[in-house]
Amino acid sequence: MAYRITSFNEYKQEYQKSVEHPEAFWAEKAEAFVWIKKWDTVLEWNFTEPNVKWFSGGKLNITENCLDRHLAERGDQVAMIWEPNNPDETVRKITYRQLHGDVCRFANALKNNGAKKGDRICIYMPMVPELAVAVLACARIGAIHSVVFGGFSFNSLSERIQDAACNIVVTADGGFRGAKDIPLKKIVDEALLTCPSVKKVIVLKRTGIAINMADGRDVWWESEVRKASTDCPAEVMDSEDMLFILYTSGSTGKPKGVVHTTGGYMVYVDYTFKNVFQYNDGDVYWCTADVGWVTGHSYLIYGPLLAGAITLMFEGIPVFPDAGRFWKVIDKHQVNIFYTAPTAIRSLEAHGLDYVKPYKLDSLRVLGTVGEPINEEAWLWYHENIGKGQCPIVDTWWQTETGGIMISPLVGITETKPSFATLPLPGVQPVLMDEGGKELKGNNVEGRLCMKFPWPSIIRTTYGNHERCHDNYFSHYKGYYFTGDGCKRDENGYYRITGRVDDVIKVSGHLLGTAEIENAINQHPDIVESAVVGFPHDIKGWGIYAFVICRNERKDVDTLRKEILETVTKYMGAIGKPDKIQVVPGLPKTRSGKIMRRILRKISEGETANFGDTSTLLDPAVVEEIKNGAVK
Ligand code: PRX
Repeated sequence: MAYRITSFNEYKQEYQKSVEHPEAFWAEKAEAFVWIKKWDTVLEWNFTEPNVKWFSGGKLNITENCLDRHLAERGDQVAMIWEPNNPDETVRKITYRQLHGDVCRFANALKNNGAKKGDRICIYMPMVPELAVAVLACARIGAIHSVVFGGFSFNSLSERIQDAACNIVVTADGGFRGAKDIPLKKIVDEALLTCPSVKKVIVLKRTGIAINMADGRDVWWESEVRKASTDCPAEVMDSEDMLFILYTSGSTGKPKGVVHTTGGYMVYVDYTFKNVFQYNDGDVYWCTADVGWVTGHSYLIYGPLLAGAITLMFEGIPVFPDAGRFWKVIDKHQVNIFYTAPTAIRSLEAHGLDYVKPYKLDSLRVLGTVGEPINEEAWLWYHENIGKGQCPIVDTWWQTETGGIMISPLVGITETKPSFATLPLPGVQPVLMDEGGKELKGNNVEGRLCMKFPWPSIIRTTYGNHERCHDNYFSHYKGYYFTGDGCKRDENGYYRITGRVDDVIKVSGHLLGTAEIENAINQHPDIVESAVVGFPHDIKGWGIYAFVICRNERKDVDTLRKEILETVTKYMGAIGKPDKIQVVPGLPKTRSGKIMRRILRKISEGETANFGDTSTLLDPAVVEEIKNGAVK
């Protein structure tokens, strides 16, 4: 198992080794896993195509490393604790042996339904253990999983299924989220009207609502599993065979299918999990992220299971049945390591300390955050009220594309500083660039965050379109991976991520493309055109502000707003709902037809002057009108 750093000096030595001898460094880490055949070459790479290969020629199956190899030593240890949405429903505790059996059985069920190595399988499920089982079962047989977050609606789901040409969808009749039931199967049915590649749908029974089962296409999880055996030898995978696709929003309309491969991803998430969180055997670890996002992939399923940890999965939301739920769950399961998003912290802080006080929280040793910048106030609130001033906070910066944590303190080893992700992990070589592409050396600088050397779980391609991967990440600064984030390096070399510099918005920690939201708004029959920007929001980090041009002069703006919200929810999902909608007579466009979002952003932030250079605008008068009608 991965090497664990125990002091800051050791961190510095490891870091240096990883920069001076990256191949030897990572080969040593990789030695700890079960390989069917060892690799021939540790690393081949260039950032021009790009082409990155780690552990080439190596043969393995990641599930043997997550499950089989633990059986002898910890077969009867709990692998996963499941806390249901409804606190009165029974908790489930699944041992490594049971999980192994469940995964093998469902892997056989997939095979019986025509799945084979290399197929793409879409997973659209609630947060139940079967979701983890489905993910691992795909990996077991060498099928590529593409998990879609259950909060996305039919169009977003359909786009993602079509892009990867999935042949199987694994879903549930519905899912519980707080007081709501999400009709997952109904949404799948709607999505599949435009997905001819899908031949089978496997449906888990969760909420018990009535659903349609299409003859010959739809089968029940339970009956398929009953027919399947628990003996499923792991498929032999090449190190660079695809493990999964995970869609992330881009600045253009279509989401990008970020591709991760097997060997490097495995080595990196295991190493980072153990080192960042300083996981000790027997610790109860809880990552609150949904498996629909990368954090759920790397640090709810793969990382903890590779490390033989106890991972907690929570089906519900932080405010159900009340805003004390997280803290109640921590006491109930004696959670030692707790990893969540700044949005959740800010929202629970806003509910007040009365929801925290009834709980002891004395099992906690480590706190973590991920997904968006954490402001100093929220950091301090978390530290004082949840960690009782005793628990180090690891502010972990990374991305879907990086596969694993890149910049973060190591628990108890790196001195923390509120709102700083602090220092790069071994193997990570960040640089800051100015807009002209000049590297900013030294400390006390601010620029755009890039990476100059590959780490094992770097994005390999965007599914079906390598050029897009090149254009998005490797073309802005030649020879570098560009993150899309702005960043400061302080006088001590500590990194602070300042946020996105492109047309994506981090709303409650979820990355949303403005174009994706605009497409959804434009489905409303009365909307001619729309433009979406982010504005600073106290709880969500960023809120969504939509400027819309209406076909008819609609007097009933409130009704129109309601209809737009319904349209977005139906078409894309509730996560894309604008917080503010302004009907405008026109949009500030340049003569070449490009919307000047910079101006809209300023208006959304309440700015009334200083719009910068507006000389290229086709119709400067429109700015005045928009400004005067801004939604406060
Ligand atoms: O802007 C950064 C922000 O989240 C982006 C990546 O989003 P996604 O691919 O959805 O992955 C989120 C979970 C890893 C980054 O480009 N971000 C992530 N973590 C942090 C962060 N911003 C500031 N601080 C962080 N700790």
